[in-house]
Amino acid sequence: MDLFEYQARDMFEKHGVPVLAGAVATTPAEAREAAERIGASSGGVTVVKAQVKTGGRGKAGGVKVAKSADEAEQHAAAILGMDIKGHTVHRVMVAQGAAIAEEYYFSILLDRAERRYLAMCSKEGGVEIEQLAVERPEALARVAVDPNVGIDDAKAAEIVSAAGFEGDTAEKVREVVKTLWTVYREEDATLVEVNPLVRTESGDVVALDGKVTLDGNADFRHPDHAALEDTGATDPLEAKAKEKDLNYVKLDGSVGIIGNGAGLVMSTLDVVAYAGEEFGGQKPANFLDIGGGASAEVMANGLDIILGDPQVKAVFVNVFGGITACDAVANGIVGALDTLGDEATKPLVVRLDGNNVEEGRRILAEANHPLVSIEATMDGAARRAAELASQN
Ligand SMILES: Nc1ncnc2c1ncn2[C@@H]1O[C@H](COP(=O)(O)OP(=O)(O)OP(=O)(O)O)[C@@H](O)[C@H]1O
Ligand SMILES: [Mg+2]
Repeated sequence: MDLFEYQARDMFEKHGVPVLAGAVATTPAEAREAAERIGASSGGVTVVKAQVKTGGRGKAGGVKVAKSADEAEQHAAAILGMDIKGHTVHRVMVAQGAAIAEEYYFSILLDRAERRYLAMCSKEGGVEIEQLAVERPEALARVAVDPNVGIDDAKAAEIVSAAGFEGDTAEKVREVVKTLWTVYREEDATLVEVNPLVRTESGDVVALDGKVTLDGNADFRHPDHAALEDTGATDPLEAKAKEKDLNYVKLDGSVGIIGNGAGLVMSTLDVVAYAGEEFGGQKPANFLDIGGGASAEVMANGLDIILGDPQVKAVFVNVFGGITACDAVANGIVGALDTLGDEATKPLVVRLDGNNVEEGRRILAEANHPLVSIEATMDGAARRAAELASQN
């Protein structure tokens, strides 16, 4: 899960990373009130920042300096509702204005390929770091971090000196780097990025912008992380699927997909996308893996979600019978259609193979449901489903 900047700021503060005062606002009036409070300690100057989970907010006009509470209110009115790379701005953060002397960059991330962490640090932050990494890679220090050791004093010193920091600033950046490591480790993050990390005119080193990605696999250790979820942004179908414990991801095509096993479902998506080219570019509408035990109930839940997607015009059920044999799956499909009754209105193309396939096909043929057609091969079924989707 990615956090909003204001959530990252709060998390940093909790662990002792130096940050500026900041408050989230959802209306211009709230922004004004926050600016009156927060600006009091920075000569009335605040920065109004769009809270969206994408980069380049500043360039898009989503970060604006306000010299008064009036101005903060006006900026908030302009920024709220703005579209930044497809993300609508529903809230802004009003942050204390900083007198910036220099902007730096620091991040820690999970380096999956190398099975360790990677720290990156630069004296040239603020700008697009991807651009810096390409144009002047020598200006971006990359230091491997052993997960069994983490960022201790020695590692922090190594990172900071690799980036070219010296003297008093090096000392301060070192402390911040160590504290950000605490955030990374204690919160089970896979990314902590600060761009810019700034030195203010009074010599303090402060995190002005934060990006944090939390590892969902560690949620069980962090009951408090549930509150950070942006429930408003979750797709309603995905939320419903989550409630029913289904592995579902909404996509934007027209062919609903159900399969058993993540690998099979992934390849089904590819096959459908390929077959769909022939029928005006029909594409998969979702990923849904019903797992090994494809019971009637799980099948009904899955079908219910997929049929509830107005973009779905046809459904492809692709099952390979293994431990759960094809007859059980076929009974599951028949049972699911019974359960759904009149709610099932879209054509279903079924491809069954594997353990007990004859019996499975026989059960489906016998049920003779008007919406169901059976195809022998995965390619054939993908073609048929794409064709039906193009006709509906
Ligand atoms: N509190 C602040 N006080 C003064 N200047 C700020 C403050 N926050 C941000 N800025 C200035 O605005 C610039 C952009 O801000 P920020 O890094 O938060 O957004 P961004 O980089 O555009 O967004 P993103 O990181 O999502 O791409 C910073 O590099 C800094 O110069
Ligand atoms: Mg930034």
